[in-house]
Amino acid sequence: EGERGIDISQLRAKTKLITLDDGFVNTGSTKSAITFLDGEKGILRYRGYPIEELAKHCDFVETAFLLIYGELPNASQAEIFRAGIRDHTMIHEDMRSFYNGFPRDAHPMAILSSVVGALATFYQDSLNPNDPDQVEISLYRLLAKLPTIAAYSYKKSMGQPFMYPNNDLSYCENFLHMMFATPARDYVVDPDFVEALNLLFIVHADHEQNCSTSTVRMVGSSNANLFASISAGIGALWGPLHGGANEACVNMLETIAKDGGNVQKYVDMAKDKENGFRLMGFGHRVYKNFDPRAKIIRASCDKLLAKLQLDDPLFEVAQKLEEVALQDEYFIERKLYPNVDFYSGVIYRALGIPIQMFTVLFAIGRLPGWIAHWEEMHNNPSTRINRPRQIYTGATERAFVPLEER
Ligand code: ACO
Repeated sequence: EGERGIDISQLRAKTKLITLDDGFVNTGSTKSAITFLDGEKGILRYRGYPIEELAKHCDFVETAFLLIYGELPNASQAEIFRAGIRDHTMIHEDMRSFYNGFPRDAHPMAILSSVVGALATFYQDSLNPNDPDQVEISLYRLLAKLPTIAAYSYKKSMGQPFMYPNNDLSYCENFLHMMFATPARDYVVDPDFVEALNLLFIVHADHEQNCSTSTVRMVGSSNANLFASISAGIGALWGPLHGGANEACVNMLETIAKDGGNVQKYVDMAKDKENGFRLMGFGHRVYKNFDPRAKIIRASCDKLLAKLQLDDPLFEVAQKLEEVALQDEYFIERKLYPNVDFYSGVIYRALGIPIQMFTVLFAIGRLPGWIAHWEEMHNNPSTRINRPRQIYTGATERAFVPLEER
């Protein structure tokens, strides 16, 4: 099938062959026309458009349209899409009572997946996955409400009043405003912050069959509604081996800064296989020459740090670490470069986003990709419920032992 794989589904049906592939490293779960990725060459394209072009010429909302509908919008399509999102930015007033019930120190990813799942209780008019109009309104609701739900989770953790969405602002401006404005103090959104956030959302918007996207497809394949499927995807993204890596990277930079900024010590530690320590934010399973997303946001990261001149030792540590690791034979030989999580963690820090919110922002960025994959799966007539097989390794048949004899 194509240049890269063999379609063995027919062979499997004939022979009852089961392939065992831990972690699905070489198993294609689907055909997809959404995102192309070549890890050796560092290529990432959404619907055929190189990520570099999209980052240069589009904003996040246009990119979302492209992923979901397959084409870049013209001016009127873009305006209709933006207006549709603006119409749905508020969340039902009754949903605010959820936030009263969550503990103040609840992780915002837990809040996000719970409240997104609960959208299915408030919007029962759009739960039929086989009705295109219901799916359409659900996707607008999700794109519009996710930033509001996310910002409220931050406000809850701060003990501050929630800020209603301001529909005169763009998607990213509105999110930053809901995060950082208070009724007592307005927050003037810096256009450079908006640019950086747009870039981050664009580079995170899709990455083919990653863990959370596969989860969304898996749940959706049972004909579960879009809210339930996306809520499950948020749960998958939360894990430190997936969306949680940028949080781990900034925690590591903080540790190095507190330890006097001795970068060489940590580079040496990462080379020593005995202690199991790795430099967070370096290396990638698929990208073996460079991570094209990291290349794009590195420039944004430099620009932001040069402008803000923040007095935070973490930024100096990040710059030194990048410099030292990139010149080290160990990292050169193994093709270990800073990945997207390295720079995204640093940018979020510079924007004043608290660490626990990093993965929440990743979820906002990844949402259009999840929706696009869910729809592609639903609209494909050959989709069947995802139901992997297993190789059974337990006991063979045993005689039942009554309770009194055990
Ligand atoms: N620090 C030190 N050594 C490393 C690192 C690292 N960050 N990453 C890989 N290596 C070494 C390995 O020890 C191995 O060395 P060896 O050949 O001497 O045994 C070699 O490089 C190859 O590593 P693998 O583990 O085989 O690479 P794999 O592709 O399986 O792992 C991964 C990729 C998980 C991303 C890894 O590089 C890593 O753990 N990085 C740190 C965590 C991180 O930043 N994750 C975010 C990824 S980006 C994203 O998820 C959006």
